[in-house]
Amino acid sequence: MHDHRAAPVAPDAPFRAFRRLNDPALSEHTSSRGRVDRRALAALQGDRLEDKLLRALVERRALPAKEVWESFEVAARARSALRRTTVVDLCCGHGLAGLLLAAFERTIEQLWLVDERRPGNHDRVIAAVAEVAPWVTAKARWLEAPLKRALPLLPIGAGILAVHACGVRSDRAVDAAISGGGPLVMVPCCYEGTARSAPVALRESLGVVDAADIDRTYRLESAGFSVRWSSLPRAVTPMNRVILAVTPATLETPDAL
Ligand SMILES: C[S@@+](CC[C@H](N)C(=O)[O-])C[C@H]1O[C@@H](n2cnc3c(N)ncnc32)[C@H](O)[C@@H]1O
Repeated sequence: MHDHRAAPVAPDAPFRAFRRLNDPALSEHTSSRGRVDRRALAALQGDRLEDKLLRALVERRALPAKEVWESFEVAARARSALRRTTVVDLCCGHGLAGLLLAAFERTIEQLWLVDERRPGNHDRVIAAVAEVAPWVTAKARWLEAPLKRALPLLPIGAGILAVHACGVRSDRAVDAAISGGGPLVMVPCCYEGTARSAPVALRESLGVVDAADIDRTYRLESAGFSVRWSSLPRAVTPMNRVILAVTPATLETPDAL
């Protein structure tokens, strides 16, 4: 698990899903590990799908505040790249980022939620999402398995989402995108054990964090992907780099990236 007091790895970025959080007085609690509560309602903008989903999550106090805001911000950045029929949320935890994508993007027919352990309160999260977006329930399927066992089972061409897949698990997400050929959106996290294949010069002069992500970027580009880096608001997480990798086929979608 990453240290939430660590220095941010990427530049700051504004909140996109809930723009009111760009007022620092409202974003104070966004990195809180405590349950999302009524304070979150100050961010509502009206009756958009985002607003309804947030209300339902708050009503059930379904998750830590940080996880809620981060999932909305990841989904806002990932949705055009992952506008596919099948999306896999790897190391998904409660799977909120993937569930939000399936709520927003009607092209998604199947959402695979992959984690070695299905968390106890996942049912509360899916109930909150299903109350507002009932079409998501039939699309979501759980694969409770370690990555080693899950990766060979993933459908070819699926979009891969990996949010805080710790350490080398982010490298396995890169492997999954390369072998399946579908786009990838990932927010890497805790870099222990990573960057082993990066040149020593990069590790020594840039540090393991940047060396690992540069190495991942070159791997993806060599496999035919076009890669961009983006970031999440630092108020949510210091592990805030977002790596988006799309294939030429994805780029045919007019608003990809
Ligand atoms: C830091 S959490 C991230 C959860 C979620 N994506 C999020 O951002 O809130 C990492 C997740 O990876 C899962 N995990 C760790 N090792 C794994 C493995 N070898 N195979 C599958 N899942 C794994 C853990 O159970 C945990 O849910």
